Amino acid sequence: MPSKTDNRVGVQVEDTKVCVVMVGLPARGKSYIAQIAQRYLQWLSIPAQTFNVGNYRRNDAPQPTADFFDTNNAEGERKRRAAAEAAVADMLAWFRGGGVVAILDATNSTKERRRWINDICVTSGIEVLFVESKCDEQEIIMANIRDVKATSPDYRGQDPEAAAQDFLDRISKYEKIYKTIDEDGDEDEYTYLKIMNIGKQVIINRIQDYLQSRIVYYLMNLHIRPRSVWLSRHGESMYNLDGRIGGDTMLSPRGEQYARKLPDLVRESVGDDRPLTVWTSTLKRTIATARFLPLHYNQLQWKALDELDSGVCDGLTYQEIKDRFPDDFAARDEDKYNYRYRGGESYRDVVIRLEPIIMELERSEDILIVTHQAVLRCIYAYFMKKDQAKSPWMNVPLHTLIKLTPRAYGTEEIRYEANIPAVSTWRGKGSTAKHENPTPESL
Ligand code: ATP
Ligand code: F6P
Repeated sequence: MPSKTDNRVGVQVEDTKVCVVMVGLPARGKSYIAQIAQRYLQWLSIPAQTFNVGNYRRNDAPQPTADFFDTNNAEGERKRRAAAEAAVADMLAWFRGGGVVAILDATNSTKERRRWINDICVTSGIEVLFVESKCDEQEIIMANIRDVKATSPDYRGQDPEAAAQDFLDRISKYEKIYKTIDEDGDEDEYTYLKIMNIGKQVIINRIQDYLQSRIVYYLMNLHIRPRSVWLSRHGESMYNLDGRIGGDTMLSPRGEQYARKLPDLVRESVGDDRPLTVWTSTLKRTIATARFLPLHYNQLQWKALDELDSGVCDGLTYQEIKDRFPDDFAARDEDKYNYRYRGGESYRDVVIRLEPIIMELERSEDILIVTHQAVLRCIYAYFMKKDQAKSPWMNVPLHTLIKLTPRAYGTEEIRYEANIPAVSTWRGKGSTAKHENPTPESL
């Protein structure tokens, strides 16, 4: 089928649909990979949904012991099969309703199970991309069991040590039947990505199209080393004082104070020993904000971090925009995420140009990003899974450092305030006020 560019989505998606089928023993990070992939795709406005077979199984067997997963346990086998069938049925219904990428999260550890899923998908015109996570580093597996598995709903209310032991027994049941994908050379016709020991080695087989290759490239860049991402807007600028948007003005005296205070704020949060890389935009106000940071921090300027381009409205106040372009002003309030300034950009456009930034962030360790209101909202939305329609209305105060730390299932946030006054640049729907107090919903 010919591919097309979907202007609404902003990225090229094929007419085809993709089922990402996770493969691997328990505690190999499959659910982790599934939820991060879903977050990335949804951030790009690609309809994506995870179907976790374990959640279906829990309806019928909420707290099974390891024996349940023994292939000689006929009752266990029946229930597990029923859970897989229910997940696949819901997934197919979801595709019929317009879904583009489904992620089927289960061990899918036998050739038979993979063949079954493959055949169902192929019959329904859905491409299959197997993603296997293999890991034989015992330390990582034990950490996964301790951090995630012993506290899962399967072991609620149970002693963590006993839970960990039972989980190890569960793994050994799976090990008896598990076959890594294409182990016997007879699964070579499948499209697959095999990730060994969290990306130390990867095998890519028969990737077919653009969407698949994007997913594969993204997954290849993931790591689980502890790290944080710090986000800050530039210090208050001269345009901020006037309530003007865009431009390339210098910092106000209070913005200058923030720049001088930022190193302390960063030190308080990061500590002295951790090496930090600083990314700014190419505009004067972010570069000036980052200029007092320690010299041993690597600094890099990215054009992709420049503020949303407001085209013909650059340099105007919201009141001036409403006076000169009343229809545009109303249209932006109507759908702020999709509204594109004449000769400029929309939030959707910004997300698309930020994709390389996200990719680089995923590969990297500690990074501090000094950027602008709209860009920061988009990056924040990625980490915090913010609804795209709501993120452009989010309040991101000036003179505040935000620390985001990705964890197994979600991102932790801490905010550090510099306590240096600044104007508010937040604007509520319909308003043309120069400086307005944010409403509680925007926080
Ligand atoms: P199960 O089959 O029981 O559902 P799972 O394979 O889905 O297990 P997860 O629940 O995803 O396992 O395990 C989460 C943990 O895996 C997290 O602590 C995460 O840091 C870690 N992890 C993420 N990616 C990988 C990877 N590629 N290899 C091993 N561990 C990983
Ligand atoms: O007002 C500061 C600013 O960074 C402008 O340069 C930019 O146009 C605006 O914020 C983006 O915010 P909003 O999308 O709410 O207008």
